[in-house]
Amino acid sequence: MNLTLKIWRQKNASAKGAFVTYSLDNVSPEMSFLEMLDALNKKLVEDDKDPVAFDHDCREGICGSCGMYINGHPHGPVPAITTCHLSMRYFNDGDTIWIEPWRAKPFPVIKDLIVDRSAFDKIQIAGGFISINTGAAPEANSIPVKRIKSDEAFDTAICIGCGACVAACKNASAMLFVSAKISQFALLPQGRAEARERVRSMVEKMDELGFGNCSNTGACEAECPKKIKLTSIARLYREYYKAY
Ligand code: SF4
Ligand code: FES
Repeated sequence: MNLTLKIWRQKNASAKGAFVTYSLDNVSPEMSFLEMLDALNKKLVEDDKDPVAFDHDCREGICGSCGMYINGHPHGPVPAITTCHLSMRYFNDGDTIWIEPWRAKPFPVIKDLIVDRSAFDKIQIAGGFISINTGAAPEANSIPVKRIKSDEAFDTAICIGCGACVAACKNASAMLFVSAKISQFALLPQGRAEARERVRSMVEKMDELGFGNCSNTGACEAECPKKIKLTSIARLYREYYKAY
């Protein structure tokens, strides 16, 4: 495939960025999207040009670092996958692909497609943990947990902190992320002891860092690569009300 790439280039957070057009030939449909960017960067380095900075680590849909906007969608046009799982077979010969970083004030651009998502770490540090000495693994049935609850908790614990929900929201709301992190503990007996303090601290930190309120549009759920549900946000509200 021969492609035209319109990629956002920006030296740092304070520099003015712009789209730069690149042509890339001989892209195999077997390549992943990140491998396609690797091929572009190889060409740029060979031409003595600055390669495009983009974040990635696991390339297996686990770490959440590879987020970018592709043709107007966080992680690209295919639902429920991360950018690293996006295959070039979803594109056609002659396509023009627009590639941009997350656009949200609490996620300032570091360079090109890389944004600083440390705001999520700060929210986690504010309360996204259980402060007990876990000791040795307990007997499996010592704290009975209903299957439906453990499944629900697991469905929220799979949030990878990628930030697509923030990028998709017109209010740059982090509610889906925070609600996932609250839910994974709130649903289990082990998380109840610190539930009040946790939700108060995490919501306070989220507000302090400049994330907006839920817009109720559901864009976050639609674009989340792990399909975290809006019902998590409803649970976050309930937990918050109970905490006061
Ligand atoms: S809720 Fe979904 S979109 Fe938001 S950070 Fe977690 S995995 Fe990413
Ligand atoms: S590189 Fe880790 S989720 Fe994509």
